[in-house]
Amino acid sequence: MRQRLMVALDMPDAAQALHMRNQLAEHVGWFKVGLRLFVAEGAPLVKELLTSHKVFLDLKFHDIPNTVAQAIESAGALGVQMVNVHAAGGSEMLKRAVDAASAFPDMQLIAVTVLTSDSMPAEQAKVVAVERALLARDTGLHGVVCSVHEVASIKKACGNHFVTVTPGIRWGSQDIQDQKRVADPALAVQQGADYLVVGRPIIQAAVPADAADEAVSMMSARF
Ligand code: C5P
Repeated sequence: MRQRLMVALDMPDAAQALHMRNQLAEHVGWFKVGLRLFVAEGAPLVKELLTSHKVFLDLKFHDIPNTVAQAIESAGALGVQMVNVHAAGGSEMLKRAVDAASAFPDMQLIAVTVLTSDSMPAEQAKVVAVERALLARDTGLHGVVCSVHEVASIKKACGNHFVTVTPGIRWGSQDIQDQKRVADPALAVQQGADYLVVGRPIIQAAVPADAADEAVSMMSARF
């Protein structure tokens, strides 16, 4: 289960990110580098994280097809194991991303369906997420980012091997903050999510390693 937990290193600088990496080193399999950390520290920090863990580069590319293809090539050259684009970028952009990613067989290319912070009503989000997941699958991407509440419908429509990555994870009395479509780690695994992305509930915990262990034990609870 630890290998299915991705911790979002949404920290301001390399020193704090590496301190968190060291605290969580034995507790999680993946780190996610998003906009905040990448804008501040860029490729050298990603390379350092890759010496100990798998890395999901969560920059959600959404631009003209050529620019996205070039960004995917740069991500592949960095050596990350997962990168993402917005499915809303359309089929030509997705196709160019797939072509660029094909040179890097160890890197999974994932599309964001509907952000878990989006205020779209849940039923509508499910319809749109499935539509975008089908487009991503038919274009050759490995999977999607979606909320836990869309995983079962996406797996049904796209097949069980189509990867689902789920942020918006909260448990106990945690504040949902800016997230809208949230679920706990047990439900995420029960619904079939392949990877769980957890940020603030772990990185802002009094003891991050304990919070990670708690998430992992909930992921294992029903199995
Ligand atoms: O702190 P929290 O657990 O809400 O962090 C969720 C992480 O997942 C953030 O880094 C956010 O950028 C990312 N994410 C998301 N929703 C998506 C894709 C990525 O929340 N659809």
